[in-house]
Amino acid sequence: MIRIHNIATVVALFSTFDAALAQGSAYAQCGGIGFTGATTCVSGYTCKYSKDYSQCLPGTASSSASTTIPTTLTTVASTSATATASAGSSTSINSKFVAHGKKYFGVATDQGRLTTGSNEAIINADFGAVTPENSMKWDATEASQGVFTFTQADYLVNYATTNGKLIRGHTLCWYSQLPAWVSAITDAATLTSVLENHITTLMTRYKGKIYAWDVVNEVFNEDGTMRSDVFYNVLGENFISIAFKAARAADPNAKLYINDYNLDSASYAKVTNGMVAHVKKWLAAGIPIDGIGSQSHLSAGQSSGTAGALAALAATGVSEIAITELDIVGAAASDYVAVTNACLGVAKCIGITVWGVRDPDSWRASSTPLLFDANYSPKPAYTAILNAL
Ligand code: G3I
Repeated sequence: MIRIHNIATVVALFSTFDAALAQGSAYAQCGGIGFTGATTCVSGYTCKYSKDYSQCLPGTASSSASTTIPTTLTTVASTSATATASAGSSTSINSKFVAHGKKYFGVATDQGRLTTGSNEAIINADFGAVTPENSMKWDATEASQGVFTFTQADYLVNYATTNGKLIRGHTLCWYSQLPAWVSAITDAATLTSVLENHITTLMTRYKGKIYAWDVVNEVFNEDGTMRSDVFYNVLGENFISIAFKAARAADPNAKLYINDYNLDSASYAKVTNGMVAHVKKWLAAGIPIDGIGSQSHLSAGQSSGTAGALAALAATGVSEIAITELDIVGAAASDYVAVTNACLGVAKCIGITVWGVRDPDSWRASSTPLLFDANYSPKPAYTAILNAL
């Protein structure tokens, strides 16, 4: 694991080691075992020390002295390190977003990503929350009935708690990535008990560690009717109540969300007849829904509808809403800024999560929808969000 440390003490001790070398570019390596290249960074970036792989990350040094970490002194540096960053420097997207009163600017990840390339360093520096992209889904956690696997989910939770990141749990009840043994259930009592047991087991394991859970995911059709899947076909709308009540009982402090895609225009039927109408009805019936998640997998230019859509979702009466899986075809800076501003403009919008760090790791990689490119370099949209904040 790459840890980001406070290097001020080291800098003060060894400020005579000013580099005569060229400066490292954004996210370039700037130190580490065997490293012989530039150990200072371009303006706006600081060489954040790590024994194995120091890296130029956004932010300025706390001292006006050189930020050089002599590679020959890494042992000294590692023992004098004092702090682990929780959400990057004061110039990170997360910290600037939080300064506007929001809770987090987060990202989807998992063990495979966190242990590859610069993902962890970037998440440490730039993001304040993580969502497991796949490791908490039903096929990953209960592939066989009653046999639970938590290796990858535990890794994600341990990473987040160690590094001060909020966690959005994703997802407890979803028709996709659902094992065949669940889809084959035809009996209401059996499915109720299976659903309750799945929710209770996951939420109890991570009780107190998860800020919010996507309790149900993608339950609506595009026309606003309920999706035909095993949960709806066997239990009817009652599965929503079963799921949320089990979730509330398992971890009363977690925020409980209903999450969906194509909630990107206030006048779209999936918003009006679907999410808005149903959530109002379910809240009135006492179902403990705290939040609505708008995935926000957008096409280019579609950000124009986000502000209005968020306002409509907020007006249902839930206590909060969030943008939960943001990615935008082409990643135009104007689109990312519009979405960021849309959340800033709706008081109940508490956070934004982008669905991955870099383009090649996206579920729709060919549309290059994320904030970092294949080389882990920040794209124009990243800089534009920072500037807008
Ligand atoms: O883990 C298996 C691996 O064992 C196997 O060898 C490999 C072969 O294809 O598949 C691996 O599973 C893949 C899984 O991601 C983990 O990498 C699945 O094939 C692949 O379909 C799955 O894709 C995920 C997708 O959800 C599944 O529906 C994406 O990574 C993930 O980004 C995407 O996320 C969803 C949200 O959960 C809900 N909203 C939509 C969003 C985008 O589709």
